[in-house]
Formats: sequence, structure tokens, C-alpha cells
Amino acid sequence: VHTPRVFSGIQPSGGLTLGNYLGALKRFAEAQDRGGIETVYCIVDMHAITVWQDPDKLTRATRELAAGFIASGVDPVRSILFNQSQVPAHAQLGWIFNCVARLGWMQRMTQFKDKAGKNSENVSLGLFAYPALMAADILVYHATHVPVGEDQKQHVELTRDIAAKFNNDYGVEFFPSPEPVIEGAATRVMSLRDGTKKMSKSDPSDMSRINLTDDADTVAKKIRKAKTDPEPLPETIEGLEGRPEARNLVNIYAALADLTPEQVIAEHGGQQFGSFKPSLADLAVARLAPISTEMSRLMQDPAEIDRILADGAERANAIAAPILKRTCEIVGM
Ligand code: ADP
Ligand code: NA
Repeated sequence: VHTPRVFSGIQPSGGLTLGNYLGALKRFAEAQDRGGIETVYCIVDMHAITVWQDPDKLTRATRELAAGFIASGVDPVRSILFNQSQVPAHAQLGWIFNCVARLGWMQRMTQFKDKAGKNSENVSLGLFAYPALMAADILVYHATHVPVGEDQKQHVELTRDIAAKFNNDYGVEFFPSPEPVIEGAATRVMSLRDGTKKMSKSDPSDMSRINLTDDADTVAKKIRKAKTDPEPLPETIEGLEGRPEARNLVNIYAALADLTPEQVIAEHGGQQFGSFKPSLADLAVARLAPISTEMSRLMQDPAEIDRILADGAERANAIAAPILKRTCEIVGM
């Protein structure tokens, strides 16, 4: 039986979106605030470099993401907040898992297929092996719960397969089988321009997403211009069936207001988007403006951010190093 522990990570590969906030950061802070369970949060820079990153931008994005975590309510004292490359056990366990995971398992990962596209011969080997490193990120802490957005479900399931195969191959009950925690109204925030696509920092259209660094006018404009159908909001939740854009705005409202989509429909059902969108814009600005202000404030003192991350790395290493050592003994190294 493993002591419950939460682990999750985000890549420092450019700006944070409302999807990252609602699907990840906000929920990370909530897991921490519930208390009683250790929360470990990682800026996964080694995942970011699976595709080209300009070195100066990577350094800046790492600090900015740390600021984003803190501004979203992750307290670097009550949680462990650190940068992956500062804890070498991730890479070391990642290699062992490269030798446990099967090539065919990686070939089935839909995110690899999406990211590699037609050019799959010319992507980095790291992009292909990414899920084995992610398994190491989680299991080097013996984490039991992994809060993520829906897009990461398959990777957490692969982590369970790797843990099970390691335990089976070596005849041990060493690694736990971590659970993906995919809860709430906004586990898959969609693009504001296309209700069938995930909101993402890599979408070429900036109007498709809300960035945590957008100012109030930009947030309001993007919501006002969000694609919708001509019908008013339905009177019941079933009426959102087949209306992905309407459903997305209701889900975003619900997650920002800490309501269920049913409660949002009870309150706003029957409204035209001409009146629902301004309510949503006001809510989004009220929730996001303090985060972006706090991020800018924190970014004025990069040395302090580096100090926070160094402290987090030390605490992370204190958990990870003994688990790696024991893993190596099990393997015979
Ligand atoms: P991105 O997908 O934006 O490149 P990451 O892969 O680093 O960012 O994901 C960080 C976290 O944010 C993951 O838990 C992921 O599931 C979550 N996430 C990313 N985009 C969304 C979205 N549109 N809706 C909900 N969660 C999301
Ligand atoms: Na993602």
C-alpha cells in the first residue's frame, strides 16, 4: 500500500492558456488546499526540448511557468514546485523505463501521432520516448494521483502499464499504479474558433485561445468573437448535445465560477449569446486579471523564482533519490 501523493507537470513551451489553467493549474491548487496529501508539481523542461526550443526563451518560459503556478495558487511551501532537469533521477529512471516499455506501446500514443504528423521520420527520438520519461516523472515519487486534462489520459494509462511490467518483470510490488484524476467541468477546454479542437498554445490563431497574460480587453474581445451557433442557450443540459461551441462556453463559465454546467444552464438557459458572452467575459476577467498581475509582479524578480525552484528541487530530490536507488538495486545495478 502506497501513501497517497499527487504529481503533475506542465511544459515550459510558451504561454499558458485558459485550458492549462482550468484543466491543470487551478486543480493543482485545489488538491494542495484540500490538504492531507503531499502535492508535487514539476516544470517539465526536458519534455519541452523534445521539440526545438530557443535556449533564452526556454529559460524565460521556465521562470514564467513557475510564476504561473504560484499566481494560480500553488504555494511553493505547502507544495513542492521545481524544474525537472534539476532532479537527475527523472532522466535516470526514464532510461530504465525506456528499457521496460515496448516500442509498440509508444507507436500507439495518439499525441505522438498528432505532434509528429506526416513528418514522423524527422522528429526527435525524445518526442517518441516522451511517455516513458513521463512515467518516470510520476513514478520516481511513487505518486498515486495525477491530475491532468483529458489529453493526458493515455499517457497516464501507459505509466500504469510500465509500472505493472516493471513489477512483473522483476517480481516486486515496488511501483504503485497511479490514477489519472480527470474531474470537473473543464478537463478539455476547446478552441474558441473551432469547438472540435482543443484550446492549445500551439494553435497558430491567437483568437482561438485565452492566454493567462492577455489583458482584460483582449480577454473580453476573444470571448465576444468566440464562434457560436445562432440559437440561444438551451433550457436544459441535454440541449447542448451537438452544440460543441455552446457547450465549451458553458463549461468554461462553470469551471471559472466553481459551478456545474447544470447550474450554469439553470441560471443562464434561454439567454442569447449577446448577453451570455458579456457575463462570461466579466467572470473571466475577474478571475484571470489577478493571476496575470501576480505573474508580472513575480517576473520582476527572476532570482527569487530561481531560489524557489532550487528549494523545490532539493525537496523533490530527497523523495526521488532513494526511490531511484532502490530501483537500481532491483534491476541489479
Ligand atoms: P499544452 O497541451 O498546452 O502544450 P502541456 O502538454 O504541458 O500543455 O499540458 C499541461 C497540462 O494542461 C496537462 O495536464 C494538460 O492535460 C492540460 N491542458 C492543456 N490543454 C488543455 C485544455 N485545452 N483543456 C484542459 N486541459 C488542458
Ligand atoms: Na498537452
